[in-house]
Amino acid sequence: MSVELFQLKKRFVAPDGAAVPVIDVAEFRLGDGEQVGLIGGSGTGKTTLLHLIAGILTPDSGRIQFDLSGESAAAVPDGSVKASESAAVSSVGGATAPAAAVLDYRTTAATLAAGRITDITQLSEAARDIFRGRNIGYIFQTHHLLPGFTALENVLLGMSFTGRPSDPAWAKHLLKEVGLTDRLHYRPGKLSVGQQQRVAVARALANRPRLVLADEPTGSLDPKSAQQSLDLIRRLTAEVNASLMLVSHDPMISRQLPRVVDLAELNRAAG
Ligand SMILES: Nc1ncnc2c1ncn2[C@@H]1O[C@H](COP(=O)(O)OP(=O)(O)OP(=O)(O)O)[C@@H](O)[C@H]1O
Ligand SMILES: [Mg+2]
Repeated sequence: MSVELFQLKKRFVAPDGAAVPVIDVAEFRLGDGEQVGLIGGSGTGKTTLLHLIAGILTPDSGRIQFDLSGESAAAVPDGSVKASESAAVSSVGGATAPAAAVLDYRTTAATLAAGRITDITQLSEAARDIFRGRNIGYIFQTHHLLPGFTALENVLLGMSFTGRPSDPAWAKHLLKEVGLTDRLHYRPGKLSVGQQQRVAVARALANRPRLVLADEPTGSLDPKSAQQSLDLIRRLTAEVNASLMLVSHDPMISRQLPRVVDLAELNRAAG
């Protein structure tokens, strides 16, 4: 899936009430299947940019367009929800979604199926959540695993909100790929920081996303684990034919990606 940004602007309100420009990007394109490293000092807007692309935040103006038209029909979710799938939405993870949530899911998913180019800035919050759940894998700067659930359950929960049936075999495959087959039933508190980070990588890939956004995924790891984690993210992203945008302030990491973009140059609001 390719992503294009046009005239993207975001301001935050400072504690004194002033509006501070944080993102001002004229144009940027990430190609289908491309792997890009984002670099830039602290506060240059890296996390904010990823949040905008993922639809966690909305911009003040500009467009963020996802194009799925370069992909085979089989790879693109058709957006239609079968009765069995909506049942899965309501029951995965032991939690039960209210009937209204399932209904909203059906209508929103059908709307999203209408076109292959989606401007996420034009979607409602509910539609952005569905679009993200289906198409984007996010590896957070802090990993956000749910402490009350095991490694396997954390990965399965990543599949809960897509309308597709959950796929334990794929979840186990991912945990095997990240070297945690013998830790499937451990809760995060009993895993090392590096192991928790690998669960977060597996969870981000749980839905076979079309785009992986990774925010300093190696920040809390020693150099050897950081290298392994980068290799893992790149290999798994390629395995599902997704595009990758990876933030790292560590040049040893970011320089390994085929294209490196400096926020100081891309983002006119930086610095
Ligand atoms: N909710 C908010 N309200 C006001 N200002 C914010 C908010 N979130 C971020 N900012 C400001 O926006 C700027 C960019 O923040 P962002 O988190 O995107 O930086 P970053 O490049 O990811 O930095 P780091 O490398 O430290 O993670 C910072 O100056 C920050 O103070
Ligand atoms: Mg950040």
